[in-house]
Amino acid sequence: MPSPTRTYRGTPRNLARLARRLRAGELVAVPTETVYGLAANALDATACRRIYQAKGRPSRDPLIVHIHSIKQLASIAVPNEAALRLARRFWPGPLTLILPKRTTVPDVVSAGLPSVAVRMPSHPLFRRLLRLTGVPLAAPSANPFGYVSPTSAAHVRAGLGGRIPSILDGGPSRIGLESTIIDIRRPRAPRLLRPGAITLAALELALGVKVRVPRKKAAATSAQLAPGQLARHYSPHTPITLHASLARSVPHLAPREAWVFLARPRGRTGRNVFWLDATGRLDGVARQLFHMLRQLDAHRFERIHIELAPGSGLADAINDRLRRAAAR
Ligand code: TXA
Ligand code: MG
Repeated sequence: MPSPTRTYRGTPRNLARLARRLRAGELVAVPTETVYGLAANALDATACRRIYQAKGRPSRDPLIVHIHSIKQLASIAVPNEAALRLARRFWPGPLTLILPKRTTVPDVVSAGLPSVAVRMPSHPLFRRLLRLTGVPLAAPSANPFGYVSPTSAAHVRAGLGGRIPSILDGGPSRIGLESTIIDIRRPRAPRLLRPGAITLAALELALGVKVRVPRKKAAATSAQLAPGQLARHYSPHTPITLHASLARSVPHLAPREAWVFLARPRGRTGRNVFWLDATGRLDGVARQLFHMLRQLDAHRFERIHIELAPGSGLADAINDRLRRAAAR
């Protein structure tokens, strides 16, 4: 029998109640500025095992640990100067650091790796919950394994309703894409494992060294190094075709296929014409992307045509998610 899932608004009473449940080993889906996460006490191996069960996530795919203050960092990881510089520059915010792990973090969190992924989120409700709970919280994205990450409480309920007891509703996610992940264990040879809203250029500027971007192929063979780089991930059910630009490449609009422009297209209308941001601003595109993919899945189009984002920076993160969504 599936158990009922309740959604909570972020009142002081509800936050206190959810903090108690987290301390008792329960799962709580939480809002973050990137995507919603499925949280458990990161120091409680039994609680963290429930995360893998609820998501149907393979046990070799490690979790990100969320902290409330930089002070908490040293209790779970071994930071170096470069890591602290990034933390001071970008936290709270959408940046995850890979660092050597302390033994306080159970192996189930790191999937047996000697490293741990750590992030300090900026969403005010999640921050309050972290403070009230008083322990670091492990949280992957709150979606069934392999599907598009959730950017609202309704998305979480659609994917995990009946499988988790509680969802904290913090409104739509402001950024809409998962955090940037950087392996900073070797300060002079950092590696970008997942692009996000904190861009490669911003990281290089803060560090004063080049950040390497491992090739996708290499990452896929060593799935444990960067399992988020598994090719098929974040995928809707509907097949996707990517286009450099739809303006030039679409001769006609087949009615059973959806056409997703970055910006509102001039002179094109129809039930199968969509756009991600009225003026094509990339922060708006990022915020809407996962919601759009879910909506189009629900409409049961036969195919989704979608434009890649021009340029670099946030465009790299958007295009990374688009390529994964399109991978079959
Ligand atoms: O924005 C985010 O990062 C969201 C919110 C909830 O914080 N979380 C998220 O978690 O996207 P998840 O589990 O969907 O993706 C975490 C990624 C996975 O690809 C995982 O393999 C990688 O982080 N990861 C975790 N620990 C790692 C480690 N020790 N070494 C390398 N990669 C690691
Ligand atoms: Mg995920």
